[in-house]
Amino acid sequence: MLDLRTAFDRDGYAVIPGFKSPEEIAALRARAERIVRDFDPSDGAAIFTTKDQAAKSDAYFLESGTSVRCFFEEDAFDADGRLRQPKELSINKIGHAMHDLDAAFDAFSHDARLQTIALALGLARPLVYQSMYIFKQPNIGGEVRWHQDAGFFDTDPSTVTTFWFALEDAGRSNGCLWVEPGGHRSPLRQRFVVRDGRAQMEELDATPWPSAGATPLEVRAGALVVFHGRLPHYSAPNRSAKSRHAYTLHAVDGDAAYSPLNWLQRDARMPARGFV
Ligand code: FE2
Repeated sequence: MLDLRTAFDRDGYAVIPGFKSPEEIAALRARAERIVRDFDPSDGAAIFTTKDQAAKSDAYFLESGTSVRCFFEEDAFDADGRLRQPKELSINKIGHAMHDLDAAFDAFSHDARLQTIALALGLARPLVYQSMYIFKQPNIGGEVRWHQDAGFFDTDPSTVTTFWFALEDAGRSNGCLWVEPGGHRSPLRQRFVVRDGRAQMEELDATPWPSAGATPLEVRAGALVVFHGRLPHYSAPNRSAKSRHAYTLHAVDGDAAYSPLNWLQRDARMPARGFV
C-alpha cells in the first residue's frame, strides 16, 4: 500500500494489474449484457457525450444518478435516426447506481480490498456515489475529451477518487485511457453543476489541457487503475473492431462537504454507501 500511495501522490494515478478475476469480470459482463437486452430504446433514448451539454441536461440523465439507465453512443444513429449497429453494439454506457441497485454490480463494487485502497489514499470515510459500465463499442466508440472527474463530484476539500476497472484489454487501438502524469497538481478547469434544474459546465480556470506528455494506460483485463479527481484524462474514439469494456466507481470522503450543486445527489431514501 505504501508503494501505491507513493505512485498515486507522485503521478496522480496507480495501476494494479490482475485486481479482478476472469470470473468476476464474466459475471459483470453477463449482467451488463442482460441490462442492455432488457433495455427498450424507445424508452427515452439519451445520447451521452461530454461534447454535448444539452444531452446532459436531459432529465433522463439527471434521474440516472439513482437508477440504472442505458445511454447510446453519439454515433449510434444514422441520418435517418436508425441504429447503425445492433442495439447491443450501440450503447455507450450504463449508469449510474448499479452498485446499489443491482446484485451483480453490488458484489463487484463492494470489496474489502477497495476499502483498504481508499483508506490508504486518504479517504477517511469512503462513499461510492456513482458506477458506470462503459462499452467503448467497436467502430463507433466515442471520444471522451480531456476532463477532470473532480469537476463532476465537487467536495470541500476535494476528495473524489476514481476506480477504473479494465474488463477487457485496453490499448491504443481500442481507445485506452490517456493521462497526464503529475497533472493532478494542476487546478480544476471546469465544474459540472445543476442550477435551477439546469445542468451546465462552468469554466473555473483557463489552464490548457495537455497537448503533449500524455501517457496511454495500456492495461490487461482485470487491471484496476485508481486516479486522483484532478488528474486530466481522456480516451480516443474506438475505430477498431474490438470493444473496450470498463467499469468505474467514483468515491468521495464522507467527511468532506459534498456540494449541493453536484448533479448526482443522494439523500436518506438512498444514501451513498462505502466499499464494505
Ligand atoms: Fe473521467
